[in-house]
Amino acid sequence: MKKYLVIGNPIDHSLSPNLHNHWIKQNNLNATYEKKLLTEADIKGIINELGNEKISGINVTVPFKKSVIPFLNELTSIAKDTNSVNTIYKKKDKIIGDNTDVGGFEYALQNINYPVKGKKAFVLGAGGVAPSIIYALNRMGISDITLSNRTKEKSEIIKKKYPNLKIINWGDTINSDITINATSLGLKEDDEIKLDYSKIGSNKLFYDVIYSPSKTRFLLKAEKLNNHIENGKMMFVYQAQLSFKIWHNIKPKIDNTVIKLLGDD
Ligand code: ATR
Repeated sequence: MKKYLVIGNPIDHSLSPNLHNHWIKQNNLNATYEKKLLTEADIKGIINELGNEKISGINVTVPFKKSVIPFLNELTSIAKDTNSVNTIYKKKDKIIGDNTDVGGFEYALQNINYPVKGKKAFVLGAGGVAPSIIYALNRMGISDITLSNRTKEKSEIIKKKYPNLKIINWGDTINSDITINATSLGLKEDDEIKLDYSKIGSNKLFYDVIYSPSKTRFLLKAEKLNNHIENGKMMFVYQAQLSFKIWHNIKPKIDNTVIKLLGDD
């Protein structure tokens, strides 16, 4: 039986096993998918297990998407450019790190028929997931990206890789077509992001990478002001679908049963 894992800390909340085990069963595969709580010191050991084929694939979540990199033999070009790995596998004796968050975000925007080309984006946050969002927006033909993060130095580091970024101070707002929360603010119910919504106006898209709660304060306020809102649920489903395809060479189905596995909105 092949064994797959998602590693992170914390990991209890992870819904990846629900999705992957559903698809494993649906496709009659002889495999299991479990979540595993790790500390930084355990990373090397767990990747070695992939090397000896005790494990066949690993998903990586917060906070290890960057720290797994030194233990891998090769990165795909997306993983390299985003400095972020969420999917690991072995191919011809090499341990490879890939990033399906980029594809997940792209599919999520396509799924709501949002045309990115020529639009102006405002990205909040410069943590682990921000480079994946920026990479995807660029690949989809965004015309302009402004980045804002509490710790400005982290925005400057990302700009080194993506020189087209404009950086503004945390708390400042621009008039954007699409505003994306890529911070962890909103996971707690009373988390608030300081934004001048009047500068952005209405009929715009507000996207939150967070999907639990299904409507963060960021989204609730945007919705009240007659904007279109979208949470990170479909991005999560699509990144899982892309990982599944990499490991099993099967594109699993996304239907209502799958969406329900992630809880009701
Ligand atoms: P992730 O992988 O989810 O991006 P992360 O790498 O820990 O997680 O990044 C968390 C992001 O949320 C960062 O952009 C962080 O800002 P800093 O770089 O200044 O730490 C942002 N964030 C977390 N708590 C915040 C808060 N209370 N106010 C503003 N930004 C916050």
